Amino acid sequence: MVTFVDGPVRVSVPATSANLGPGFDSLGLALSMRDEIEAEVLGAGLEVRVSGSGSDEVPLDETHLVVRSMHAAFDLLGRRPPGLRLTCRNAIPHGRGLGSSSAAIVGGVVLARALVAGGALLVDDATLFRMAARIEGHPDNVAPAFHGGFVIAGRDEGTDFYAVSSPVDPRIETVVFVPPTPVATEVARGLLPAAVPHADAAADAGRTALLVAALAGQPEHLWLATRDYLHQDYRRPAMPESLALVDALRADGVPATVSGAGPTVLAFTDASAAGALADRCPAGWVAHHLTVDRDGARST
Ligand SMILES: Nc1ncnc2c1ncn2[C@@H]1O[C@H](COP(=O)(O)OP(=O)(O)OP(=O)(O)O)[C@@H](O)[C@H]1O
Ligand SMILES: [Mg+2]
Repeated sequence: MVTFVDGPVRVSVPATSANLGPGFDSLGLALSMRDEIEAEVLGAGLEVRVSGSGSDEVPLDETHLVVRSMHAAFDLLGRRPPGLRLTCRNAIPHGRGLGSSSAAIVGGVVLARALVAGGALLVDDATLFRMAARIEGHPDNVAPAFHGGFVIAGRDEGTDFYAVSSPVDPRIETVVFVPPTPVATEVARGLLPAAVPHADAAADAGRTALLVAALAGQPEHLWLATRDYLHQDYRRPAMPESLALVDALRADGVPATVSGAGPTVLAFTDASAAGALADRCPAGWVAHHLTVDRDGARST
């Protein structure tokens, strides 16, 4: 019989940047910006409180993404609690390409497991990760949100998800430039062609391989390694300011890419250059100097 723990449990989950240029739908990096979520079992009802990002927009009922993800995990664990109180303190901006939906989903499934007595014995990390990736529909943000660091993720012949962590040189940091308005992922996806030239696919594969090596310990190659052939240019009409910033930064030798499906721009840097880089933030945008998060989802 599944029983629940007394008192609240807490989890924090990092923002993530997917693609990183050429690694379309496969590479993701966890960043030092975190949503904090707390949950407690109640005798009845559902209370959802949200502060920070999305607090004016997200629903406060069972359709809330964290609640939906918790319910999916409770169903896997064997029982839903009679009632639930959820408190979300959100830092990750919504709809900007920094993985807010993955953070919500990973937070939800990890919280649900932590609320079940002995939950980790019932559902292991690998199963929980696959559940989160199924809810999200793709694993490239969920994997680093869950595991932390730099993760290469995908789907095995259309069936199961895989996620393999790969090292990041400690000198590598980032500045993310967040525009004031979102771009819907469906709009960004809708601009992609059904087929690309073979030469582009080949060039992209080469840059992706180079990016894994550059991140692991050769940051001097990050500029070459972040050149993408598969998605960013096609999406230019949906986010012209983002692509203009990517172009301007790259023209000055800065390894810059669109973060996820945009419109945030991510630039790799080292600690000494981060301040000057952040000063290039366009008016009305917000720049954050973020380091690589090594921990992923943390129960606290
Ligand atoms: N913390 C959250 N709580 C509840 N719902 C959330 C939360 N974060 C994201 N969502 C839901 O997900 C939507 C944003 O998801 P979307 O995938 O479009 O953007 P993103 O995850 O921020 O960026 P990307 O997937 O490109 O990295 C929000 O509009 C909201 O409906
Ligand atoms: Mg998302």
